[in-house]
Amino acid sequence: MLDLGKKMAASLHAGLTIHLFGNLGAGKTTLTRGILHGFGYHHVVKSPTYNLVEIYKISRLYLYHFDFYRFNNYFEWEEAGFRDYFNSDSICVVEWPEKAGDLLPKADLQLFFSILETGRSIEIRAGTETGKQCLIQWKNQEKM
Ligand SMILES: Nc1ncnc2c1ncn2[C@@H]1O[C@H](COP(=O)(O)OP(=O)(O)O)[C@@H](O)[C@H]1O
Ligand SMILES: [Mg+2]
Repeated sequence: MLDLGKKMAASLHAGLTIHLFGNLGAGKTTLTRGILHGFGYHHVVKSPTYNLVEIYKISRLYLYHFDFYRFNNYFEWEEAGFRDYFNSDSICVVEWPEKAGDLLPKADLQLFFSILETGRSIEIRAGTETGKQCLIQWKNQEKM
C-alpha cells in the first residue's frame, strides 16, 4: 500500500478528488500515507476517523485526508462545511465517500479495496477526463 501510494503520487496534482472504497482495515489510510510519502511528507499520518479531516500542506499543495465513516446521513457532510476544501489548490482523498452520497464532488479517481487471504487488491477507475489522464501518466511512468 505504501509503495503503491508513493508511485501514484507522481501522477497526482492539485485539483484532484480521490475516493477510497473498502471495509475497515482494507488499507485506505495506509495508501494515503504512501501518497503523502510520495510527496515528501515523512511526519506522522494519522487516520482521520475521529477528526473527520487531517490537513497536510506540502509546499503550495494542500492534501485533505477525509474519513466520513462516522457520518449518519448525507447532510452531515454539508453541515461540516467541507465543500470549500474541494478546490483547485488541493488534493482531496476521501475514505467512506458513500457516507456523503451524491453531495460530494465527483471523484476523478475511485479506488476499490478488497481484503484477500494474502494481502489486498485494488481496482482503480477514472471518473473524469482528468482522472483518465492521471492513469495514462501513471502507466507511462511504470513503463520507464
Ligand atoms: N496490503 C496489506 N497487507 C496486509 N496488511 C495491510 C495491507 N494494507 C494495510 N494493512 C494493514 O491493515 C491495517 C488497517 O489498515 P488501514 O490502512 O488503517 O485500513 P483502512 O483505512 O482501510 O481502515 C493496518 O494495520 C495496516 O498496516
Ligand atoms: Mg482508514
